[in-house]
Amino acid sequence: MCGIFAYLNYNVNRERRFILQLLFNGLRRLEYRGYDSAGIAIDHDQPLVFRQEGNIESLVKSVYQEVDALGLDLEESFSVHAGIAHTRWATHGEPAPRNSHPQTSGDGNEFLVVHNGVITNYQVLKETLIRHGFTFESETDTEVIPKLAKYVFDKANEGEGSHTVTFSEVVLEVMRHLEGAYALIFKSLHYPNELIACKRGSPLLLGVKVMMSKSDDIKDCTARYMPALQALHASVNVSLWLGFNQEFNEESNSGSTFHDSKFLSNNDHPKELFLSSDANAIVEHTKKVLMIEDGEVVHLKDGNVSILKFDNDKGRHGGSLSRPASVQRALSVLEMEVEQINKGNYEHYMQKEIHEQPESLKTTMRGRLIRGGSCKAKTVLLGGLKDHFKTIRRSRRIVFIGCGTSYNAALAARPILDELSGVPVTMEIASDLLDRQGPIYREDTAVFVSQSGETADTLQALEYALENGALCVGITNTVGSAIARHTHCGVHINAGAEIGVASTKAYTSQIVVMAMLALAIGGDTISSQTRREAIIDGLFDLPNKVREVLNLDQEMKDLAKLLIAEQSLLVFGRGYNYATALEGALKVKEVALMHSEGILAGEMKHGPLALVDENLPIIVIATRDSCFSKQQSVIQQLHARKGRVIVMCSKGEAVSVCPGGLGRVIEVPHVEDCLQPVINVVPLQLLAYHLTVLRGYNVDQPRNLAKSVTTQ
Ligand code: F6R
Repeated sequence: MCGIFAYLNYNVNRERRFILQLLFNGLRRLEYRGYDSAGIAIDHDQPLVFRQEGNIESLVKSVYQEVDALGLDLEESFSVHAGIAHTRWATHGEPAPRNSHPQTSGDGNEFLVVHNGVITNYQVLKETLIRHGFTFESETDTEVIPKLAKYVFDKANEGEGSHTVTFSEVVLEVMRHLEGAYALIFKSLHYPNELIACKRGSPLLLGVKVMMSKSDDIKDCTARYMPALQALHASVNVSLWLGFNQEFNEESNSGSTFHDSKFLSNNDHPKELFLSSDANAIVEHTKKVLMIEDGEVVHLKDGNVSILKFDNDKGRHGGSLSRPASVQRALSVLEMEVEQINKGNYEHYMQKEIHEQPESLKTTMRGRLIRGGSCKAKTVLLGGLKDHFKTIRRSRRIVFIGCGTSYNAALAARPILDELSGVPVTMEIASDLLDRQGPIYREDTAVFVSQSGETADTLQALEYALENGALCVGITNTVGSAIARHTHCGVHINAGAEIGVASTKAYTSQIVVMAMLALAIGGDTISSQTRREAIIDGLFDLPNKVREVLNLDQEMKDLAKLLIAEQSLLVFGRGYNYATALEGALKVKEVALMHSEGILAGEMKHGPLALVDENLPIIVIATRDSCFSKQQSVIQQLHARKGRVIVMCSKGEAVSVCPGGLGRVIEVPHVEDCLQPVINVVPLQLLAYHLTVLRGYNVDQPRNLAKSVTTQ
């Protein structure tokens, strides 16, 4: 789970200073994917590699120092230059320069590789390469890749003066030996000014910025390219959801006939090409991207972009790889805006994303809730599922599968899914389902909930469900992600880029999507009509209510000041808000690095009560719903044991939850019961945020974590 980035300028003069800054900025955009160590490779007489333990800023500092020590001129200009970069979340080997990327083939930097993913058969490859005389300096799985490339290259050139294999041939041969998940970018001394990228399982995009004449403004393009570019602009979203779901096919124009291969393979025009693990590092340069598919090799050379398809099965069974198929693909246009990936007026991404929730929820619901019209009906439209509702309703079970916060979101929506869907609903944590090889049947609908759409456990559970023949539905925030592409159908939560490692706005948008899903599966039964309409009205009003609850910011900061030195915090919830307790506690532990447990209040007497004393702070969620009186009784029992209780209750109900003014109260707006988890989690997100800042920890990059967990 790392970030990889590359920049190749072709026929555009760029100074070394500019190139370095661009690579560093690319890494800053990807830093949330991993921040243990980082590295870059740039051109000189031979490729130069810089690697540093720590965050991107430590790398920046050390690179400028080394550049200075080497006497390199920062103003030296390159009309063609190929730079690669990496930010790491350590899996194999501690964070240290030798384990950072680019990993190299050895002295002379003949082959350099940056990698996101895990090579599962690296031990076997390493032993083989050692037998062939290679020595290894790192503990990484990645180091076998550049060494294997050198081995392949040397073998192909045995007995000859100059090499006869192309760079893509070398990489295709290397890929044939790799098992596991990877997105790779290769750079080589032997192929100056060229880059190769390839992937299987890990995400990778190519960004394309073509300068038409003197100006790179699209309006200045020559008549020759105008039709192509117009078609390109019309092709918004076309391939972003290729193979995923109707919803996005509907929103897109899949009728575009424009193929960019001619456009991309034209080397008359100066261009800048960007390779990246995700769109965040590309969108500030260009919105035109090409989503690279599994098994593809992208070769950037002489201003051309060519894509070859690697046929793994052929390779595994010893078939020929000498003629890989070439692929044509339409460019997609990113829908995101640069502002989305900036912090704006906020200090941290997590803070920004918490405060963005009124807007992100609106975007999640946009075009999906219908109220009024001629029949005055209130209904939900989820275009991506419209051809599948029949199958879903006839399913034997609907199984929700996810990890961490995404699992909690499904748990928060479970009661309303139970109530409205008419189909038995079960929940699975992806890793646990896999550990148990739990039952998934052909007659099941399996719903995969994942903000990133990349989480390895969830992806593997998806593979498992596909093998077992279930209908697989995706709920994700990431267009073009692996889960989006491999499920049969699905819904985007459209929460906008979430960069803070702790998930906040994606959580609330996921709950809302699953509430809409419950409404859509349930259909229009008369018996549930009043309830359904109340929920739809509640959804319309939800952004306003979230805005209201955000006013608790200062109050939560004050509470954080009170709790700053605590060792531990318990959060009690039940019913609709059991998930809120789990999610609130998860936020506190992951960013504030304070032990925190979410506890099902109904279980209190079966163990947790033993922990209660006058010191341990306990937040009890007791907003008004069918569990309210039970929570009142929990509060009383806690007071009876001199518990240090903080109660979250509905506005105006402080007296009924704190008789005699005992304890502290957090009053939140009251909404429809199934939507209350969206409101109740916000103060807990704010508490986690303020606790973290006050305790002096990095909010956006919590210790040992990364945004998407692409390894198991
Ligand atoms: C916690 C958090 C994680 C993720 C989990 C699944 O704030 O972000 O618990 O929710 O790693 O990630 P996705 O949703 O990307 O599958």
